[in-house]
Amino acid sequence: MKTYLVTGGAGFIGSNFVLYMLRRYDDVRIINLDKLTYAGNLENLREVEGNPRYTFVQGDICDQEAIKTLFEGNEIDYVVNFAAESHVDRSIANPQVFVETNVLGTVNLLNAAKNAWQIGDDEYREGCKFLQVSTDEVYGSLGAEGYFMETTPLDPHSPYSSSKASADLFVKAYYDTYRFPVNITRCSNNYGPYQFPEKLIPLMIHNTLQHKELPVYGDGMQVRDWLYVEDHCKAIDMVIRNGVTGEVYNVGGHNERPNIAIVKTILSYVKEHVDPSVGEGLIKHVEDRKGHDRRYGIDPEKIRRDLGWFPETCFEVGIEKTIRWYLTHKEWMERVTSGQYQEYYRAMYAGK
Ligand code: NAD
Ligand code: DAU
Repeated sequence: MKTYLVTGGAGFIGSNFVLYMLRRYDDVRIINLDKLTYAGNLENLREVEGNPRYTFVQGDICDQEAIKTLFEGNEIDYVVNFAAESHVDRSIANPQVFVETNVLGTVNLLNAAKNAWQIGDDEYREGCKFLQVSTDEVYGSLGAEGYFMETTPLDPHSPYSSSKASADLFVKAYYDTYRFPVNITRCSNNYGPYQFPEKLIPLMIHNTLQHKELPVYGDGMQVRDWLYVEDHCKAIDMVIRNGVTGEVYNVGGHNERPNIAIVKTILSYVKEHVDPSVGEGLIKHVEDRKGHDRRYGIDPEKIRRDLGWFPETCFEVGIEKTIRWYLTHKEWMERVTSGQYQEYYRAMYAGK
Protein backbone atom coordinates (compact mmCIF):
# COMPACT_ATOMS: atom_id res chain seq x y z
CA MET A 1 0.00 0.00 0.00
CA LYS A 2 1.41 3.41 -1.00
CA THR A 3 0.28 6.57 0.74
CA TYR A 4 -0.16 9.75 -1.28
CA LEU A 5 -0.41 13.18 0.27
CA VAL A 6 -2.46 15.02 -2.34
CA THR A 7 -2.71 18.76 -1.72
CA GLY A 8 -5.49 20.81 -3.31
CA GLY A 9 -7.42 17.60 -3.87
CA ALA A 10 -10.80 19.34 -3.53
CA GLY A 11 -10.15 21.57 -6.55
CA PHE A 12 -10.79 20.75 -10.19
CA ILE A 13 -7.79 18.63 -11.20
CA GLY A 14 -7.00 17.45 -7.66
CA SER A 15 -10.44 15.96 -7.11
CA ASN A 16 -10.35 14.29 -10.52
CA PHE A 17 -6.96 12.83 -9.56
CA VAL A 18 -8.22 11.50 -6.20
CA LEU A 19 -11.21 9.84 -7.92
CA TYR A 20 -9.03 8.47 -10.73
CA MET A 21 -6.50 6.90 -8.35
CA LEU A 22 -9.03 5.37 -5.95
CA ARG A 23 -11.12 3.97 -8.80
CA ARG A 24 -8.11 2.54 -10.54
CA TYR A 25 -5.98 1.06 -7.74
CA ASP A 26 -6.75 -1.04 -4.66
CA ASP A 27 -3.32 -0.52 -3.10
CA VAL A 28 -3.36 3.26 -2.89
CA ARG A 29 -4.20 5.33 0.18
CA ILE A 30 -4.86 9.05 -0.20
CA ILE A 31 -4.66 11.85 2.33
CA ASN A 32 -6.21 14.93 0.78
CA LEU A 33 -5.07 18.21 2.33
CA ASP A 34 -7.03 21.21 1.11
CA LYS A 35 -7.68 24.65 2.54
CA LEU A 36 -11.11 24.78 0.89
CA THR A 37 -10.75 28.20 -0.67
CA TYR A 38 -13.50 29.36 -3.04
CA ALA A 39 -12.12 26.78 -5.52
CA GLY A 40 -12.21 23.76 -3.18
CA ASN A 41 -15.42 21.77 -2.96
CA LEU A 42 -15.99 18.60 -0.94
CA GLU A 43 -19.01 17.83 -3.09
CA ASN A 44 -16.55 16.76 -5.81
CA LEU A 45 -15.41 13.93 -3.53
CA ARG A 46 -18.76 12.44 -2.46
CA GLU A 47 -17.92 9.16 -4.20
CA VAL A 48 -14.93 8.49 -1.93
CA GLU A 49 -16.32 9.77 1.38
CA GLY A 50 -16.27 6.78 3.71
CA ASN A 51 -13.67 4.91 1.63
CA PRO A 52 -11.23 3.50 4.25
CA ARG A 53 -8.31 4.34 1.95
CA TYR A 54 -9.27 8.02 1.81
CA THR A 55 -8.88 10.78 4.41
CA PHE A 56 -9.69 14.46 4.06
CA VAL A 57 -7.86 17.06 6.14
CA GLN A 58 -8.75 20.73 5.92
CA GLY A 59 -5.51 22.69 6.10
CA ASP A 60 -3.17 25.18 4.48
CA ILE A 61 0.06 24.15 2.76
CA CYS A 62 1.60 27.30 4.29
CA ASP A 63 0.95 26.00 7.84
CA GLN A 64 4.30 24.53 8.93
CA GLU A 65 3.05 22.86 12.11
CA ALA A 66 0.04 21.25 10.45
CA ILE A 67 2.14 19.79 7.63
CA LYS A 68 4.80 18.53 10.05
CA THR A 69 2.11 16.82 12.13
CA LEU A 70 0.69 15.19 9.01
CA PHE A 71 4.07 13.71 8.11
CA GLU A 72 4.68 12.57 11.70
CA GLY A 73 1.34 10.79 11.90
CA ASN A 74 1.48 9.04 8.53
CA GLU A 75 4.07 7.16 6.49
CA ILE A 76 3.70 9.23 3.33
CA ASP A 77 5.35 7.87 0.18
CA TYR A 78 4.40 10.52 -2.36
CA VAL A 79 3.43 14.18 -2.29
CA VAL A 80 1.42 15.44 -5.26
CA ASN A 81 1.14 19.21 -4.98
CA PHE A 82 -1.93 20.54 -6.77
CA ALA A 83 -2.69 23.19 -4.13
CA ALA A 84 -2.52 26.61 -5.71
CA GLU A 85 -4.27 29.77 -6.57
CA SER A 86 -4.91 28.88 -10.20
CA HIS A 87 -6.77 31.69 -11.96
CA VAL A 88 -4.80 34.19 -14.06
CA ASP A 89 -7.41 36.98 -13.86
CA ARG A 90 -7.48 36.79 -10.06
CA SER A 91 -3.67 36.97 -10.02
CA ILE A 92 -3.80 40.19 -12.04
CA ALA A 93 -6.23 41.67 -9.50
CA ASN A 94 -4.42 40.40 -6.38
CA PRO A 95 -0.96 38.83 -6.76
CA GLN A 96 -0.10 38.54 -3.03
CA VAL A 97 -1.98 35.33 -2.23
CA PHE A 98 -0.41 33.71 -5.32
CA VAL A 99 3.04 34.24 -3.80
CA GLU A 100 1.88 32.95 -0.42
CA THR A 101 0.28 29.71 -1.57
CA ASN A 102 2.08 28.94 -4.81
CA VAL A 103 5.61 29.87 -3.74
CA LEU A 104 5.81 29.85 0.07
CA GLY A 105 3.35 26.97 0.41
CA THR A 106 5.36 24.85 -2.03
CA VAL A 107 8.63 25.57 -0.20
CA ASN A 108 6.94 24.69 3.08
CA LEU A 109 5.79 21.35 1.67
CA LEU A 110 9.23 20.63 0.21
CA ASN A 111 10.81 21.27 3.60
CA ALA A 112 8.38 19.10 5.50
CA ALA A 113 8.77 16.21 3.04
CA LYS A 114 12.55 16.55 3.07
CA ASN A 115 12.66 16.45 6.88
CA ALA A 116 10.35 13.44 6.97
CA TRP A 117 12.10 11.41 4.25
CA GLN A 118 15.76 12.20 4.93
CA ILE A 119 17.77 9.23 6.24
CA GLY A 120 21.29 10.56 5.70
CA ASP A 121 23.25 13.27 3.93
CA ASP A 122 21.38 13.69 0.62
CA GLU A 123 19.76 10.30 1.20
CA TYR A 124 16.02 9.70 1.39
CA ARG A 125 13.70 6.84 2.22
CA GLU A 126 13.56 4.46 -0.79
CA GLY A 127 10.77 5.12 -3.29
CA CYS A 128 9.59 8.50 -2.03
CA LYS A 129 8.83 11.31 -4.45
CA PHE A 130 7.57 14.90 -4.53
CA LEU A 131 5.61 15.75 -7.66
CA GLN A 132 4.99 19.41 -8.41
CA VAL A 133 1.98 19.98 -10.66
CA SER A 134 3.02 22.88 -12.84
CA THR A 135 1.81 24.52 -16.00
CA ASP A 136 2.83 25.34 -19.57
CA GLU A 137 2.31 29.02 -18.68
CA VAL A 138 5.77 29.11 -17.07
CA TYR A 139 7.25 29.07 -20.60
CA GLY A 140 5.51 32.31 -21.60
CA SER A 141 3.85 32.83 -24.95
CA LEU A 142 4.48 31.41 -28.43
CA GLY A 143 4.18 33.01 -31.86
CA ALA A 144 2.40 31.19 -34.67
CA GLU A 145 5.09 28.48 -34.87
CA GLY A 146 6.89 26.11 -32.51
CA TYR A 147 6.14 24.31 -29.25
CA PHE A 148 7.17 24.42 -25.60
CA MET A 149 9.76 21.74 -24.80
CA GLU A 150 11.13 20.87 -21.36
CA THR A 151 14.27 22.77 -22.36
CA THR A 152 12.40 25.96 -23.32
CA PRO A 153 13.58 28.77 -21.00
CA LEU A 154 11.09 29.92 -18.38
CA ASP A 155 9.54 33.26 -19.32
CA PRO A 156 6.35 33.73 -17.30
CA HIS A 157 4.29 36.88 -17.76
CA SER A 158 1.33 36.94 -15.39
CA PRO A 159 1.59 37.03 -11.58
CA TYR A 160 0.07 33.51 -11.63
CA SER A 161 2.62 32.05 -14.03
CA SER A 162 5.45 33.90 -12.28
CA SER A 163 4.44 32.30 -8.98
CA LYS A 164 4.29 28.85 -10.61
CA ALA A 165 7.70 29.36 -12.25
CA SER A 166 9.14 30.44 -8.89
CA ALA A 167 7.77 27.30 -7.28
CA ASP A 168 9.29 25.19 -10.09
CA LEU A 169 12.67 26.79 -9.44
CA PHE A 170 12.47 25.91 -5.75
CA VAL A 171 11.55 22.32 -6.60
CA LYS A 172 14.54 22.20 -8.95
CA ALA A 173 16.74 23.77 -6.26
CA TYR A 174 15.80 20.99 -3.81
CA TYR A 175 16.89 18.42 -6.37
CA ASP A 176 20.06 20.24 -7.41
CA THR A 177 21.11 21.13 -3.85
CA TYR A 178 19.92 18.23 -1.70
CA ARG A 179 19.28 15.49 -4.33
CA PHE A 180 15.73 15.52 -2.97
CA PRO A 181 13.60 13.24 -5.22
CA VAL A 182 11.28 15.39 -7.33
CA ASN A 183 9.47 15.54 -10.63
CA ILE A 184 7.74 18.49 -12.25
CA THR A 185 4.89 18.10 -14.74
CA ARG A 186 3.91 21.04 -16.93
CA CYS A 187 0.51 20.56 -18.46
CA SER A 188 -1.56 22.57 -20.91
CA ASN A 189 -5.14 23.80 -20.29
CA ASN A 190 -7.40 21.15 -18.73
CA TYR A 191 -11.15 20.81 -19.12
CA GLY A 192 -13.70 18.35 -17.75
CA PRO A 193 -16.00 17.78 -14.74
CA TYR A 194 -15.75 19.88 -11.56
CA GLN A 195 -13.96 22.84 -13.15
CA PHE A 196 -14.84 26.10 -11.41
CA PRO A 197 -16.85 28.39 -13.74
CA GLU A 198 -14.30 31.20 -13.64
CA LYS A 199 -12.35 29.29 -16.33
CA LEU A 200 -13.22 29.63 -20.03
CA ILE A 201 -15.04 26.36 -20.76
CA PRO A 202 -17.35 26.02 -17.72
CA LEU A 203 -17.99 29.78 -17.72
CA MET A 204 -19.12 29.67 -21.35
CA ILE A 205 -21.26 26.55 -20.75
CA HIS A 206 -22.90 28.18 -17.73
CA ASN A 207 -23.53 31.50 -19.48
CA THR A 208 -24.90 29.83 -22.62
CA LEU A 209 -27.37 27.78 -20.60
CA GLN A 210 -28.40 30.97 -18.75
CA HIS A 211 -28.65 33.05 -21.97
CA LYS A 212 -26.01 35.39 -20.56
CA GLU A 213 -23.37 37.24 -22.60
CA LEU A 214 -20.25 35.24 -23.50
CA PRO A 215 -17.30 37.54 -22.68
CA VAL A 216 -14.51 36.84 -25.17
CA TYR A 217 -11.32 38.70 -24.34
CA GLY A 218 -10.00 40.85 -27.21
CA ASP A 219 -10.25 39.27 -30.66
CA GLY A 220 -10.67 35.73 -29.26
CA MET A 221 -7.82 34.47 -31.45
CA GLN A 222 -5.59 33.52 -28.50
CA VAL A 223 -4.74 29.84 -28.71
CA ARG A 224 -4.81 27.30 -25.88
CA ASP A 225 -3.90 23.59 -26.04
CA TRP A 226 -6.80 21.70 -24.38
CA LEU A 227 -6.46 18.36 -22.61
CA TYR A 228 -9.21 16.28 -20.98
CA VAL A 229 -8.52 16.27 -17.24
CA GLU A 230 -8.38 12.47 -16.91
CA ASP A 231 -5.50 12.36 -19.39
CA HIS A 232 -3.61 14.79 -17.15
CA CYS A 233 -4.34 12.54 -14.13
CA LYS A 234 -3.01 9.55 -16.07
CA ALA A 235 0.19 11.46 -16.89
CA ILE A 236 0.77 12.40 -13.24
CA ASP A 237 0.26 8.78 -12.17
CA MET A 238 2.78 7.60 -14.78
CA VAL A 239 5.36 10.22 -13.77
CA ILE A 240 5.08 9.27 -10.09
CA ARG A 241 5.53 5.59 -10.92
CA ASN A 242 8.10 5.73 -13.70
CA GLY A 243 9.41 9.27 -14.10
CA VAL A 244 13.16 9.69 -13.78
CA THR A 245 13.96 11.58 -10.57
CA GLY A 246 14.79 15.23 -11.15
CA GLU A 247 13.13 15.36 -14.59
CA VAL A 248 10.48 17.70 -15.96
CA TYR A 249 7.69 16.26 -18.15
CA ASN A 250 5.49 18.37 -20.41
CA VAL A 251 1.93 17.12 -20.81
CA GLY A 252 -0.34 18.07 -23.71
CA GLY A 253 -2.33 16.48 -26.50
CA HIS A 254 -1.60 18.67 -29.56
CA ASN A 255 -5.10 20.08 -29.39
CA GLU A 256 -4.69 23.78 -30.05
CA ARG A 257 -7.77 25.89 -30.57
CA PRO A 258 -8.50 29.63 -30.61
CA ASN A 259 -10.78 30.73 -27.80
CA ILE A 260 -13.49 31.92 -30.18
CA ALA A 261 -13.66 28.42 -31.71
CA ILE A 262 -14.17 26.90 -28.24
CA VAL A 263 -17.01 29.32 -27.55
CA LYS A 264 -18.66 28.55 -30.89
CA THR A 265 -18.31 24.78 -30.31
CA ILE A 266 -20.13 25.09 -26.98
CA LEU A 267 -22.81 27.32 -28.49
CA SER A 268 -23.50 24.98 -31.39
CA TYR A 269 -23.67 21.90 -29.14
CA VAL A 270 -26.15 23.60 -26.80
CA LYS A 271 -28.16 24.92 -29.76
CA GLU A 272 -28.41 21.50 -31.39
CA HIS A 273 -28.98 19.33 -28.30
CA VAL A 274 -30.40 21.49 -25.55
CA ASP A 275 -31.79 24.88 -26.45
CA PRO A 276 -32.38 25.95 -30.08
CA SER A 277 -32.92 29.55 -29.03
CA VAL A 278 -29.23 30.26 -28.25
CA GLY A 279 -26.97 31.73 -30.92
CA GLU A 280 -23.79 33.67 -31.67
CA GLY A 281 -25.56 36.91 -30.72
CA LEU A 282 -24.60 36.02 -27.13
CA ILE A 283 -20.89 36.50 -27.92
CA LYS A 284 -19.48 39.79 -26.68
CA HIS A 285 -15.89 40.79 -27.40
CA VAL A 286 -14.72 42.56 -24.25
CA GLU A 287 -11.56 44.33 -23.11
CA ASP A 288 -8.54 42.03 -23.37
CA ARG A 289 -6.78 40.48 -20.37
CA LYS A 290 -3.71 42.51 -19.36
CA GLY A 291 -0.50 40.94 -20.69
CA HIS A 292 -2.56 38.22 -22.39
CA ASP A 293 -0.39 35.34 -23.65
CA ARG A 294 -1.17 34.76 -27.33
CA ARG A 295 -0.49 31.07 -27.80
CA TYR A 296 0.44 27.98 -25.78
CA GLY A 297 1.44 24.72 -27.43
CA ILE A 298 3.06 21.75 -25.71
CA ASP A 299 5.46 19.27 -27.25
CA PRO A 300 4.60 16.06 -25.32
CA GLU A 301 7.20 13.90 -27.09
CA LYS A 302 9.31 13.22 -23.95
CA ILE A 303 6.49 11.77 -21.83
CA ARG A 304 5.22 9.81 -24.85
CA ARG A 305 8.61 8.36 -25.72
CA ASP A 306 9.97 7.74 -22.21
CA LEU A 307 6.82 6.78 -20.29
CA GLY A 308 4.41 5.67 -23.03
CA TRP A 309 1.80 8.32 -22.17
CA PHE A 310 -0.77 9.37 -24.75
CA PRO A 311 -4.10 11.19 -24.44
CA GLU A 312 -7.12 8.87 -24.62
CA THR A 313 -9.94 11.39 -24.99
CA CYS A 314 -10.06 13.43 -28.19
CA PHE A 315 -11.51 16.92 -27.97
CA GLU A 316 -14.78 16.13 -29.78
CA VAL A 317 -15.58 13.37 -27.25
CA GLY A 318 -14.19 15.27 -24.24
CA ILE A 319 -16.09 18.50 -24.84
CA GLU A 320 -19.35 16.63 -25.35
CA LYS A 321 -18.77 14.64 -22.13
CA THR A 322 -17.98 17.88 -20.33
CA ILE A 323 -21.07 19.77 -21.52
CA ARG A 324 -23.20 16.72 -20.66
CA TRP A 325 -21.62 16.59 -17.19
CA TYR A 326 -22.56 20.21 -16.51
CA LEU A 327 -26.09 19.54 -17.82
CA THR A 328 -26.51 16.64 -15.42
CA HIS A 329 -24.92 18.53 -12.49
CA LYS A 330 -26.97 21.71 -12.58
CA GLU A 331 -27.24 21.76 -8.78
CA TRP A 332 -23.44 21.65 -8.46
CA MET A 333 -23.25 24.64 -10.82
CA GLU A 334 -26.01 26.50 -8.98
CA ARG A 335 -24.28 26.03 -5.64
CA VAL A 336 -20.84 27.15 -6.82
CA THR A 337 -22.22 30.17 -8.68
CA SER A 338 -24.28 31.49 -5.79
CA GLY A 339 -22.92 33.86 -3.11
CA GLN A 340 -19.26 34.85 -3.51
CA TYR A 341 -19.18 33.96 -7.20
CA GLN A 342 -21.75 36.67 -7.99
CA GLU A 343 -19.49 39.30 -6.44
CA TYR A 344 -16.46 37.96 -8.29
CA TYR A 345 -18.35 37.96 -11.59
CA ARG A 346 -19.59 41.53 -11.14
CA ALA A 347 -16.13 42.82 -10.18
CA MET A 348 -14.40 40.93 -13.00
CA TYR A 349 -16.79 41.60 -15.87
CA ALA A 350 -18.56 44.86 -14.92
CA GLY A 351 -17.66 47.60 -17.39
CA LYS A 352 -16.06 45.15 -19.84
P1 NAD B 1 -8.31 24.91 -8.60
O1 NAD B 1 -8.22 26.37 -8.37
O2 NAD B 1 -9.54 24.32 -9.16
O3 NAD B 1 -8.01 24.14 -7.22
C1 NAD B 1 -7.01 24.53 -6.33
C2 NAD B 1 -7.24 23.80 -5.02
O4 NAD B 1 -6.20 24.17 -4.12
C3 NAD B 1 -8.56 24.16 -4.32
O5 NAD B 1 -9.19 23.00 -3.84
C4 NAD B 1 -8.13 25.06 -3.17
O6 NAD B 1 -9.01 24.98 -2.05
C5 NAD B 1 -6.76 24.49 -2.85
N1 NAD B 1 -5.89 25.47 -2.18
C6 NAD B 1 -5.65 26.75 -2.54
N2 NAD B 1 -4.79 27.31 -1.67
C7 NAD B 1 -4.45 26.36 -0.78
C8 NAD B 1 -3.57 26.31 0.34
N3 NAD B 1 -2.89 27.41 0.72
N4 NAD B 1 -3.45 25.17 1.03
C9 NAD B 1 -4.15 24.07 0.67
N5 NAD B 1 -5.00 24.05 -0.37
C10 NAD B 1 -5.15 25.18 -1.09
O7 NAD B 1 -7.04 24.56 -9.49
P2 NAD B 1 -6.86 23.46 -10.64
O8 NAD B 1 -7.29 24.04 -11.93
O9 NAD B 1 -7.43 22.18 -10.16
O10 NAD B 1 -5.27 23.37 -10.68
C11 NAD B 1 -4.58 22.47 -9.81
C12 NAD B 1 -3.09 22.61 -10.06
O11 NAD B 1 -2.80 22.30 -11.42
C13 NAD B 1 -2.54 24.01 -9.82
O12 NAD B 1 -1.28 23.89 -9.22
C14 NAD B 1 -2.41 24.60 -11.22
O13 NAD B 1 -1.36 25.54 -11.27
C15 NAD B 1 -2.08 23.36 -12.02
N6 NAD B 1 -2.49 23.37 -13.44
C16 NAD B 1 -3.78 23.70 -13.77
C17 NAD B 1 -4.17 23.62 -15.11
C18 NAD B 1 -5.58 23.94 -15.54
O14 NAD B 1 -5.85 23.98 -16.73
N7 NAD B 1 -6.51 24.14 -14.63
C19 NAD B 1 -3.24 23.24 -16.09
C20 NAD B 1 -1.92 22.94 -15.70
C21 NAD B 1 -1.56 23.00 -14.36
O1 DAU C 1 -2.24 26.59 -19.57
C1 DAU C 1 -2.51 26.06 -18.31
C2 DAU C 1 -3.26 27.09 -17.49
O2 DAU C 1 -4.57 27.13 -18.03
C3 DAU C 1 -3.30 26.76 -16.01
O3 DAU C 1 -2.01 26.82 -15.49
C4 DAU C 1 -4.20 27.75 -15.25
O4 DAU C 1 -4.32 27.36 -13.90
C5 DAU C 1 -5.57 27.73 -15.90
O5 DAU C 1 -6.38 28.71 -15.28
C6 DAU C 1 -5.47 28.00 -17.39
O6 DAU C 1 -5.09 29.38 -17.65
P1 DAU C 1 -5.76 30.23 -18.82
O7 DAU C 1 -5.62 31.66 -18.51
O8 DAU C 1 -5.28 29.77 -20.14
O9 DAU C 1 -7.29 29.72 -18.65
P2 DAU C 1 -8.67 30.50 -18.66
O10 DAU C 1 -9.74 29.47 -18.67
O11 DAU C 1 -8.74 31.57 -17.63
O12 DAU C 1 -8.67 31.22 -20.08
C7 DAU C 1 -8.50 30.49 -21.27
C8 DAU C 1 -8.46 31.49 -22.41
O13 DAU C 1 -9.76 32.09 -22.55
C9 DAU C 1 -7.50 32.65 -22.18
O14 DAU C 1 -6.91 33.00 -23.41
C10 DAU C 1 -8.39 33.78 -21.69
C11 DAU C 1 -9.70 33.50 -22.40
N1 DAU C 1 -10.92 33.93 -21.67
C12 DAU C 1 -11.08 33.49 -20.39
C13 DAU C 1 -12.19 33.85 -19.67
C14 DAU C 1 -12.37 33.39 -18.24
C15 DAU C 1 -11.88 34.72 -22.29
O15 DAU C 1 -11.75 35.09 -23.47
N2 DAU C 1 -12.99 35.06 -21.57
C16 DAU C 1 -13.18 34.69 -20.28
O16 DAU C 1 -14.22 35.09 -19.67
